[in-house]
Amino acid sequence: MFRRYNRHHPHYQLGMATNNKIQNPHSLSTRDETVTFGFQKVPTREKAKLVQRHFNSIARKYDFMNTLLSFGLHYRWKWIAVNMLGLKQGCRVIDVCGGTADLAILAARYVGPEGHVIVYDFNRAMMLAGKSKVRKALLDGRISYVQGDAEQIAFPNQYFDAAMVGFGIRNLAHMEKGLAEMYRVLKPGGTAMCLEFSRPTNPVFRFLYDAYSFYVMPFMGRLLTGSPTAYTYLPESIRLFPLPDELSEMLLHIGFSPVSYHRLTNGIAVVHLGIK
Ligand SMILES: C[S@@+](CC[C@H](N)C(=O)[O-])C[C@H]1O[C@@H](n2cnc3c(N)ncnc32)[C@H](O)[C@@H]1O
Repeated sequence: MFRRYNRHHPHYQLGMATNNKIQNPHSLSTRDETVTFGFQKVPTREKAKLVQRHFNSIARKYDFMNTLLSFGLHYRWKWIAVNMLGLKQGCRVIDVCGGTADLAILAARYVGPEGHVIVYDFNRAMMLAGKSKVRKALLDGRISYVQGDAEQIAFPNQYFDAAMVGFGIRNLAHMEKGLAEMYRVLKPGGTAMCLEFSRPTNPVFRFLYDAYSFYVMPFMGRLLTGSPTAYTYLPESIRLFPLPDELSEMLLHIGFSPVSYHRLTNGIAVVHLGIK
């Protein structure tokens, strides 16, 4: 299903009319002293450290675990999501929370030798883990790496034709800040894409998926990475992530219009698109 919103959509009007600020645990408020890290409440400034530690501990096995735990589906989701961006030759693209560069590699093929893709991530280990894939794909010349915080993107205003984030925005202490930063660095008319986990719409499938993600995934994670907690954070953070309509409202609130979304595999993952 493809849902499309603009500022005149009733859902948007309702959200904005009742409260001129989106109520979300990830909202921009600077007064909040705690944020969520999985189901734990942690001081805001601690979250980035915990997220860094989490990705440091799994970086070398990240791609393998992704493929195993999603039965390879993540490749298909990423391919569909990048395809939906409609990239052209020569485009300049940023892959926010780019990690091991899967989205960047797909985007680099679309933008051609005249275009360029930046993998932007605050975790060096994750970016290093992706470098050999970029080299093997012979895309070294089209992809660069910048280490930095997604809540303060180190690029000027209106610099990119497209901005994308895959399975990353959920990890930010203030995800609306990260999305607003993507908006800022986009040229007018540019497109932002957010690929993120969500919840299946079918109740039976959702029940099975919950059982899989809360019991099987942490068990496999413990067995294969040696970390007892590495794969408990994942399902917990997914449960706290806004539902597709809520994320659409957040994107509209930031200024994107129109905003649309598309569910993948019954809603396990969702692609949001927003135009600046
Ligand atoms: C689940 S991985 C996703 C990697 C890749 N985009 C993919 O689709 O496979 C999340 C990435 O977000 C990065 N990340 C989390 N919080 C960040 C922040 N505040 N600023 C920059 N990167 C961040 C992590 O270091 C990690 O590499």
